[in-house]
Amino acid sequence: MNTPLPQTTIEPQPDTLNKVAETIDLIQPEVKTSELDKIVVRGGRELKGDIRISGAKNAVLKHMCAALLTEEAVTFTNVPTGLRDVRFLGQVLSHLGMNVALSSDGKAILRAQEIKTHIAPYDLVRKMRASVLVLGPLLARHGEAHVSLPGGCSIGGRPIDLHLRGLEAMGAEIEIDSGYIKAKAPTGGLKGAIIDFPFVSVGATDQLLMTATLAKGETILRNAAREPEIVDQGNALIKMGAKIEGLGTSEIRIQGVDKLHGTTHAVVADRIETGTYLCGLGLTGGSLRLKNTHIDLMPSLIAPLMRAGLDIQQEGDDIIASRRHALVRGTDIMTEPHPGFPTDMQAQFMAMMCLCEGASMITETIFENRFMHVPELNRMGANISVQGQSAIVRGVKKLTGAEVMATDLRASVALVLAGMVAEGETVVNRIYHLERGYENIVEKLSGVGADIRKA
Ligand code: UD1
Repeated sequence: MNTPLPQTTIEPQPDTLNKVAETIDLIQPEVKTSELDKIVVRGGRELKGDIRISGAKNAVLKHMCAALLTEEAVTFTNVPTGLRDVRFLGQVLSHLGMNVALSSDGKAILRAQEIKTHIAPYDLVRKMRASVLVLGPLLARHGEAHVSLPGGCSIGGRPIDLHLRGLEAMGAEIEIDSGYIKAKAPTGGLKGAIIDFPFVSVGATDQLLMTATLAKGETILRNAAREPEIVDQGNALIKMGAKIEGLGTSEIRIQGVDKLHGTTHAVVADRIETGTYLCGLGLTGGSLRLKNTHIDLMPSLIAPLMRAGLDIQQEGDDIIASRRHALVRGTDIMTEPHPGFPTDMQAQFMAMMCLCEGASMITETIFENRFMHVPELNRMGANISVQGQSAIVRGVKKLTGAEVMATDLRASVALVLAGMVAEGETVVNRIYHLERGYENIVEKLSGVGADIRKA
């Protein structure tokens, strides 16, 4: 069970910060217990009502690592503090010496007054790949970092060569030894460099953007990632005193500064969570108000959803959406780096297409092994065949509930969505993955009418 975190009155005072360790201690046993939890969904209900969209996981994780760059306290609001990934990273950072205060009202106060160790051990890093993003900030601030190699994951090998080559271009000496990346900055610190990525990488862009803020001179990142979460990351760094131009374009220029300072920043809305609930609506029908999110964050996602038959509009800070016809229309998509269709929405879009009128071709170009949800959706009665990087989804009349299991976050949620229209009961095992990235998903979906519960 997801025990709510204690609500703390948070001021960036040393006194409050001392309480942080308690918060993290409370989290640890809880994180271990629910790996075997399941979600049970019964299909057949329309979605109707309001869902508040959380802050973006993929922005928050980078913000948390960036807080290593300053000795002052950095406060983030709109943080999905209930997410396992946020808590896991909190554990890594607290091991390094950061005081991490997470509260259930979505606030994170982070203060790395001093770096206590530059070693991020395997035990902590293996739980979450993104913890490799402590490497650059540690190196920039502390001059040395030993970070366990994160290893592969179910969606592919996921190397980090671009991160390492970029850090080397900035003068770091790097060796891989006993499963660890051992990096050392040169005497006098890291220097700015021109880094031309051979292909777009979100993680490498984040890593080098953060690192370059404290390097001497100018760094130019070419063929940089343009995701809204990177823009958000850059904007927070600017508030911390960094000098950055070109965010949201493929060339980012960073002028290194001597020091960064504390700030307060509200995290951008989670476009993937937004898109996930829109795909749910495409399956069940009904109408949703998704609060505190914006279609401008996700044009390449909104366009195919509208082609498929959703009406989607912005109203103030909310997105309102409904399904136009009884069925969505077969719509093709191909995943690409932003501003293309996000790979993190591919599984959910495929689930939506299972009941489409016609057929849909879905092509995955970012990760080599991101169709693991296909056999599970087929067990529920879908008609999907995979040819290399593409899947053809032929619309079927109905799905039927089954016991299913997924090996990654987005695949798991795709199965939950399918369960919301399947006949009978769908049991999604290992919801551990879901809790890494979807805050209060059971509460949010049952709040708009879905028949869903944890078991
Ligand atoms: C981030 C997101 C993840 C999303 C992905 C693509 C976070 C925490 N995670 O992951 O949810 O699915 O972007 O939008 O933000 N690659 C290399 N060498 C490298 C780095 C990457 O070969 O050094 C490859 C990867 O294996 C992959 C592709 O480049 O095939 C894109 O990966 P990348 O954009 O780096 O993804 P992540 O940052 O890991």
